[in-house]
Amino acid sequence: MVQPKLIIHGGAGSSLKGGKDAVRKSLFKVVEEVYALLCSGASAKDAVVKGAQLLEDDPRFNAGTGSVLQSDGHIRMSASLMDGFAQQFSGVINVSRVQNPILLAEFLQSSPDRVLSDFGSAELLRELSVPVYDPLTEQRLKEWIDERNHNFSREMANVVAEPAGTGTIGVVALDSEGRICAGTSTGGKGFERIGRVSDSAMPAGNYASAKAGVSCTGIGEHIIDECLAPRIVIRVGDGLSLAEAMERSFTEAGNNNRDFGAIALDNSGTIGWGKTSEVLLAAYHTGSEMGDTLELPDGVITGCR
Ligand code: GLY
Repeated sequence: MVQPKLIIHGGAGSSLKGGKDAVRKSLFKVVEEVYALLCSGASAKDAVVKGAQLLEDDPRFNAGTGSVLQSDGHIRMSASLMDGFAQQFSGVINVSRVQNPILLAEFLQSSPDRVLSDFGSAELLRELSVPVYDPLTEQRLKEWIDERNHNFSREMANVVAEPAGTGTIGVVALDSEGRICAGTSTGGKGFERIGRVSDSAMPAGNYASAKAGVSCTGIGEHIIDECLAPRIVIRVGDGLSLAEAMERSFTEAGNNNRDFGAIALDNSGTIGWGKTSEVLLAAYHTGSEMGDTLELPDGVITGCR
């Protein structure tokens, strides 16, 4: 019997002007609920899906309800699930009009076709008779209208800044049988070109093995360029400790001027986090206590518990 572990995130970025207590409260609420599930014997996969669903339903985060709008004013969301025990990835890319993209990724775990793009995801929603849902919030609409009035001068939305909201969400869990799973869900960068594909539905942003799991957040193009999640997971598989794998990967990322963060777990129960961004909004449960990364100093930082 293994002591379950859990870490979740709600984005990484350049600033969080106040509002830390509210973000911490939102993250801890999810950590408490999902950790209780793990303690009652839930699989890492079920815990990750539940955690991602709760975060998608919280309008504070840029995933599910509260997702940012793309340049044409539409919301397109992406989510993925990587079962490290089964060594199996699934995901949806740029899906619209659904409450919980992570549930589609979960469904695709048992499908022969495991990653669907926009049209295929819409077909799947119809096949499964999933009710049509509008994830738009007033805050995100206002942000898009303001930006349109400024002729889209910004490259992306305020994904980590109050009051607009916070970022991409992710969950990594180790269950009582020692299985690891990682899940990530996002509305993207905001204001992006139609058809832009997020790292969150690629192994680059969400990856796991029997030994480790990682969920990333931040600028997707940077995460893809570093191939961040597999880079960390494979280093652990090759014999580095999680702390060494995080430190080496984030030192390299810092040298390449990347802007992102990641959460991680290994099968010995070590919980890890790292960032090159100013802030990483993550919270975790060690089995004896909850903690968070909201007060980390500026610069490239990694840590483990
Ligand atoms: N990391 C989320 C995105 O860039 O879409």
